[in-house]
Amino acid sequence: MPREEYLRTLWQKAVDSRAEERERVISVLTTSMSLEEKVHQMHGTMSVGEMFVSVFRYNLRPFRAGEDPVIGIPPLLFTDGPRGIAVGRSTCFPVSMARGASFDPDLEERIGRAMGREARARGANMVGAPCVNLLRHPGWGRAQETYGEDPYHVGEMGAALVRGLQEEVMACPKHFACNSIEESRFHVNVVVDERTLREVYLPHFRHCVDHGAHCIMSAYNRVNGDYCAHNRHLLRDILKGEWGFQGIVMSDFVLGTRDTEKALLGGLDVEMPQGFHYGHRLIRAVRRGRLPERLVDEAVRRILWVKAEYFSKVAGRPAPVKPSELLHRELALESARKGMVLLKNEGGALPLPRGETRRIAVVGKLAAVPNLGDMGSSRVRPPYTVTPLEGITAMASSGSEVAYCDGSDLGEVRRLSAWADACVVVVGLTHRQEGEYMLPLPETLKVGGDREDLDLPAPWEEVVLAAAQNNRRTVVALMGGSAVTMERWINEVPAVIMAWYPGMEGGWALAEVLFGTVNPGGKLPFSIPRSSAALPFFRSRIREIAYGYLHGYRWLDARGLPTRFPFGHGLTYADFELRKAQVKTERWDGASPLEVEVEVENPHNLPGDEVVQVYVSVPRSRVMRPPKVLAGFRRLSLHPRERVTVSLDIDPSPFTYFDEERGEMTLERTEYRILVGFSSKNLREAGIINLY
Ligand code: BGC
Repeated sequence: MPREEYLRTLWQKAVDSRAEERERVISVLTTSMSLEEKVHQMHGTMSVGEMFVSVFRYNLRPFRAGEDPVIGIPPLLFTDGPRGIAVGRSTCFPVSMARGASFDPDLEERIGRAMGREARARGANMVGAPCVNLLRHPGWGRAQETYGEDPYHVGEMGAALVRGLQEEVMACPKHFACNSIEESRFHVNVVVDERTLREVYLPHFRHCVDHGAHCIMSAYNRVNGDYCAHNRHLLRDILKGEWGFQGIVMSDFVLGTRDTEKALLGGLDVEMPQGFHYGHRLIRAVRRGRLPERLVDEAVRRILWVKAEYFSKVAGRPAPVKPSELLHRELALESARKGMVLLKNEGGALPLPRGETRRIAVVGKLAAVPNLGDMGSSRVRPPYTVTPLEGITAMASSGSEVAYCDGSDLGEVRRLSAWADACVVVVGLTHRQEGEYMLPLPETLKVGGDREDLDLPAPWEEVVLAAAQNNRRTVVALMGGSAVTMERWINEVPAVIMAWYPGMEGGWALAEVLFGTVNPGGKLPFSIPRSSAALPFFRSRIREIAYGYLHGYRWLDARGLPTRFPFGHGLTYADFELRKAQVKTERWDGASPLEVEVEVENPHNLPGDEVVQVYVSVPRSRVMRPPKVLAGFRRLSLHPRERVTVSLDIDPSPFTYFDEERGEMTLERTEYRILVGFSSKNLREAGIINLY
């Protein structure tokens, strides 16, 4: 049989065969391929023309890697996520942080499936999502792309997206690891001890791997001296070794790989979007004996295995074409509704009584423009966007008048708010103040980047104060992807909603919450401090930074610092009651989950959602522990006056600590206090359990 035909047959056999057989066939195929053919699998093939186009229209088409028409090996076709599909006109979902606030992994899985279908319809087979970098500090410019500050919660949400996506495409969780400063992302060295790395910065990546992620994108930054794409400890020891990851490690784009030899030795499989280091340079390094060919083979086996797995699953399934598969309007709306967080609501300022609120002032430029978040690699171009002003105008009752001003003239803000029965001030951030950071431009032209100062832009604070002084029913709707500090104005307004970048249906969802046709049930996936000075050290332009063991609510709790709004906080219009909470497991062996039973009641005549949260504290630990950590949660939807009893299976992994002497995660034989409630500061003891 001619060589090419032989290779083609082998590839087809790899796709068609079952697991063990597939591995064997891929081994034979790999050893039969030439070095050039193998290296071709290991890098993107973006042309100079495409690179030029991408400056003006990023991700116009999927980024390709490793197509071999002779052997018949299809390419990886990568599109960005995570708030929707970057290629084409796609559904713009709320940003991941808003979805994190839903505390609803089932919804996230459905979103993943929808994104997967849209990606496939647009010719892609891999999606660069979820982003599961931990929000160490809310100033991180790309905070909106991840789900929050807690490793357990981020892991649950990220793994849900992976499961959903992988029904249609390959998921590529990113950026592995410790990528949480934007402006220094290309060079910053994160110094972190092993225990912190294992307990705080990696568990959520592991969870995505355990849920079958086919790919992992390495980060730009360095961890303990080595760039992530060269980091043998991260890639070979932990990811591929300890966790048994079978998939591929892809570099972040362009500056994500710095050196051919270090990358291959470190464990990087695919360089994107071009073979700057993995093209001719890799071939030369192997030919000159600087790198062993078996490492190339190892990478290629992974790539072919992932492709064969994927193509065996979707082969023969037609790409989605129905309009309902190409745009997921309802799902975007459901997600925007479920992510809204009612932070404050004094004196029943909300919901606005529709019949009685005759005159509504809507204030702030952000009410009247699409504000979907970052405009870097995660940008999504939906066919339309419902703005808050459109939503409010459409939902206000027929006899009401809605008047708008953009907030640029404080006199007008005062006049309009004094005239109105209620004033909705829409303020916050845009892609200019936070987001992916490409170019070091002067401050006035700066786009994206980090926020060292967490306050709202000063002019917006003035607008809020001017409205509040003239209208007692002033409601602030905040847009943004992360925490803003609000001490200058929070006591002046009765109500605040965190509306995030709520996606293309966000204006509707916000209006529904304002008028009470939707009862808000979202929860903060991070803590809002009173001042950024209360948080761990953060600097956007920095060469080296130490990531300590504590951050977020763990840090604030340990230091007894007051927070403005704690992790897990979010009000509803129904004031749910936690009737009972108890640990049902009597003797616990540590191998199985703990059963915690809770009884929750909705005493009102409105339906609504509440998120039951379970935390654990280890008071007699032999090592330093955070005062408590999140170990489980469940979002419940209750009818008016409904009372339910639910049981949560609490997996012990958040109770474990990394024993540096033994080099492994350990479940201590000690006492565990189980706390249950509706926020990290509103908890009651459900029981104490000992592991003997
Ligand atoms: C970003 C990644 C993204 C990649 C491809 C990089 O600049 O950091 O998140 O997936 O570009 O667009």
